[in-house]
Amino acid sequence: MENLTIKYLGLTLKSPLIVSSSRLTSTIENLKTAEENGAGAVVLKSLFEEQIKYHISSFNAMPGYPEADDYISYYTKSHSVDEYLGLIKTAKKTLDIPVIPSINCFSSEGWTDFARHIAGAGADAIEINVFFMPIDRKKSSADSEKVYFEMIEKLKAAINIPIAIKIGYRFSNVLYMIDQFYMRGVEGVVMFNRFYEPDIDINRMEVVPSSIFSSPDDRRFVLRSIAMASSQDIKIDISASTGVHSADDAIRYLLAGADSVQVCSALYKNGIPFLKTLNQQIGEWMAKNNYSKISDFRGKLNWLNYEKPAVFERTQFMKYFSSVD
Ligand SMILES: Cc1cc2nc3c(=O)[nH]c(=O)nc-3n(C[C@H](O)[C@H](O)[C@H](O)COP(=O)(O)O)c2cc1C
Repeated sequence: MENLTIKYLGLTLKSPLIVSSSRLTSTIENLKTAEENGAGAVVLKSLFEEQIKYHISSFNAMPGYPEADDYISYYTKSHSVDEYLGLIKTAKKTLDIPVIPSINCFSSEGWTDFARHIAGAGADAIEINVFFMPIDRKKSSADSEKVYFEMIEKLKAAINIPIAIKIGYRFSNVLYMIDQFYMRGVEGVVMFNRFYEPDIDINRMEVVPSSIFSSPDDRRFVLRSIAMASSQDIKIDISASTGVHSADDAIRYLLAGADSVQVCSALYKNGIPFLKTLNQQIGEWMAKNNYSKISDFRGKLNWLNYEKPAVFERTQFMKYFSSVD
C-alpha cells in the first residue's frame, strides 16, 4: 500500500492534497467531506484585510476604549470576524486534519496583530494571501517588495504558528522573494494565487471579470517556478496551487518539487469527493512506478535533479518556436 503522507509547515498530512482557500472551505459540512475523502489539510476561506480594518475602525469611532488589546477584542465580537474565529474553533474540534486559516491582504498596516486571535483559536498554521498591485510608475519594484517583508516581520512578531505566504508570479525575481521570506522565518510559500483579472466584453463595451476557475493549461505559469524554487538549498516548504484538475497534474507538481498540492477549481467542478479519486490515482501511479512514498519521487524532475536543467532556464527556444509552421 502506497504511503501518501507528507510534511508541510512542520505538520504531518496523510495526503499531499490540500483543499485551497475558497467558499468551499467556509462550512464545517464541506470541511468534514474534505476530510472523509482524504484531504491532507484544509485552508479556510480567507478573511480580508478590509474586514479586519473595518471592524477596527468602527471600534475607533467609539469613545472609551483606550487599550489596543481592548479594541481588538471589541472587534472580535463583531460578526464576520467572530464567525471566522468560530469556524476555526469548530473545525479544530471536528477535524483531525490540520486547519489553516487564511488572510487576504495588500498592505502591512493595521491588521497583523489580529493574527494572534487566529492562532489563539487553535489554527495549525496560517496562510497569508498577499498581493500589492503597483499603480504608481514612480515606485520601484523594491518599494513593492518592501510591503511583503514588513508584513512578514510584523506577523512573525505577533504569532508563533507556521506561516505560508501565498503569492502571485509577477515578481522580477520570484526566487529572491522566496529567499527573503525564508530569511524572515517563513515556513512555506504557496505558488501561486489566481487573482481577479479584468477582461473586456466587446459587445457590452464593459470591463468584466475573466474566468474565476482555472484550466490545466494554467500550470504553465507555475511549474517552472516550482522546479526552480524547490532546487534551492533553503528549507521552505512549497505548496503548488493553480491548474490541478487531475491526479497527473498533482504528480507533475510533486515531481517538480512541491511538498503539497492545493486543489480548488477541480473541486468546484467535480465536487469535494473528487479528492478520493485523486488520492487513489496518485497511489496507482506510485504503485505502477514502484514508489512506496511521496519522497521517493518528489523533486525528481526539478531544476537540480533533471538531467537537462536548461529546459527550465530558457524561455526563448529557437527550436520550439520554429517547429510551428
Ligand atoms: C471561487 C473561488 C474563490 C476563491 N477564494 C479564495 C480566497 O478566499 N482566498 C484565497 O487565498 N484564494 C481564493 N481562491 C483561489 C484558490 O484558492 C486557488 O489558489 C486558485 O483558484 C488556483 O487554484 P485552482 O487552479 O485549483 O483553482 C479562490 C478561487 C476560486 C475559484
